[in-house]
Amino acid sequence: MSKTGVIGGSGLYEIKGLTLKSRKKVSTPFGKPSGQYLVGAMGGAEIIFLPRHGRRHDIPPHMINYRANIWGFKKLGVNRILSISAVGGIKKGLKPGDIVISDQVIDMTKQRASTFYEGKDGVIHIDFTEPFCPELRKVLLKAGKRIKTTLKNGGTYVAVEGPRLETAAEIKSFGLLGGDIVGMTGMPEASLARELEICYAGISVVANYAAGISRRKLTVAEVMEAMKDSTEKIKRLLKETFTLIPQQRKCPCPEALKEAKI
Ligand code: HPA
Repeated sequence: MSKTGVIGGSGLYEIKGLTLKSRKKVSTPFGKPSGQYLVGAMGGAEIIFLPRHGRRHDIPPHMINYRANIWGFKKLGVNRILSISAVGGIKKGLKPGDIVISDQVIDMTKQRASTFYEGKDGVIHIDFTEPFCPELRKVLLKAGKRIKTTLKNGGTYVAVEGPRLETAAEIKSFGLLGGDIVGMTGMPEASLARELEICYAGISVVANYAAGISRRKLTVAEVMEAMKDSTEKIKRLLKETFTLIPQQRKCPCPEALKEAKI
């Protein structure tokens, strides 16, 4: 049976409409996940939910135990993860409330534990040419069409350390590098999932114009407000996505470790 994990970002600490069956506390060799995993059902599928910042939003992005979170999902039998996050919009035309299904990543994080493989079990180099699961992305885009919600197909997610927001010059340079959106949590989540052969795709909600794109000062209040406004849309998108996810995985993700070991 296919089990799908959902990681909730800022403003999303529960999934409305999830029929809750149990709460699971999971221990991992990498320490504690962000909290208990909520196990439930939605759209006929088995869903496991984890709010990455904790239920009370008390874990900042640079303090999240990304390895424990992803390991915990694997331990619970999850083979696909949908990750919801707030981002700043860099690309011209993107505005608060837009939803982007990214297809590329530029990783600007510097001091995060970003691999499960530290030499004990051999040296591993996963292929990350395509950082998001192509099958899961396609399902998300189809679900968007079905519920008549516009999703931006593709875009480059720039992952930053945080917790501070960026300077105007940083955002300008990210734009020149080809970045479309900027967020603090997409990495190392995506590569850790790949290292455990879990499919991973992101649902990025543009919460604000990135620094210097608009003249206004950035506030946390506007980020939270935009995320709150999009919760109903996200819920409908998730529900439709769950009904469309195929049982069998036909993407390359289940074989990510094949030919990755020295
Ligand atoms: N920058 C980085 N992370 C973010 C932003 C931003 O502008 N908005 C929401 N998360």
